[in-house]
Amino acid sequence: MLSLDSVTAGYTDENIINEVSLQVDKGELVTIIGPNGCGKSTLMKSIFGLTRMRGGRILFEGRDITGMRPDQLVQRGLSYVPQERNVFPALTAKENLEMGAIALDGGIEDRISLVLELFPTLAGRMEQRAGTLSGGEQKMLAVGRAMIIGPSMLLLDEPSAALSPKVMTQLFSEIQKINERGVTILMVEQNARRALAISDRGYIMEMGRNRLQGPARSLLDNPEVCRLYLGRK
Ligand SMILES: Nc1ncnc2c1ncn2[C@@H]1O[C@H](COP(=O)(O)OP(=O)(O)OP(=O)(O)O)[C@@H](O)[C@H]1O
Ligand SMILES: [Mg+2]
Repeated sequence: MLSLDSVTAGYTDENIINEVSLQVDKGELVTIIGPNGCGKSTLMKSIFGLTRMRGGRILFEGRDITGMRPDQLVQRGLSYVPQERNVFPALTAKENLEMGAIALDGGIEDRISLVLELFPTLAGRMEQRAGTLSGGEQKMLAVGRAMIIGPSMLLLDEPSAALSPKVMTQLFSEIQKINERGVTILMVEQNARRALAISDRGYIMEMGRNRLQGPARSLLDNPEVCRLYLGRK
């Protein structure tokens, strides 16, 4: 469904990611892990057309999307939740969802209902300013906004960051539910063990490059991966 072939990209003259290759098949949930600053977010931004591409090719559903703008990608069914600043704090939760629906022509109320079905907690928060929601609610709102267009694929950059263990568990189970409903997911996660536990496959990045990849289970069972990237149980 998504395929990166030797992607090199950055922001200025310096290349942040170098010849990264990756594949996500239809229906999969795939997680990227790696140390802070290794280029995970830069990779996600590159897929979504937000960096300077220096080399390589990105295919989405068989079409070359290299260098396409975010709005063109949204039209093709690709949605992205950035790591930071992913809600408009001064707008209400409902207005945030409506912003996500700008690309749709009509049917907004139906789409909002679907999102509230996924995240029932948000239903009672619709008129509240997003900036006053709890961290977990803001994350749900950010994912909800990405879901408004009915995407075929979601890019999630560290959805569980700064959440309590309980809220994290809830969010991961909602992400799993979204995947089970047929949305292909590529996510970046710091909580590597928890994320791999719900993933089909994983990729490990290091210093802007591919380091290792494999079925999530085999990464979790690999002693070297555990020692270097997963921390203690
Ligand atoms: N907008 C930007 N302009 C210039 N350099 C940037 C920009 N964003 C990130 N970088 C640099 O790119 C490198 C990789 O950053 P990136 O955010 O992709 O890492 P990451 O793996 O997502 O880290 P983290 O786990 O902390 O989120 C860092 O050296 C960072 O300083
Ligand atoms: Mg990041």
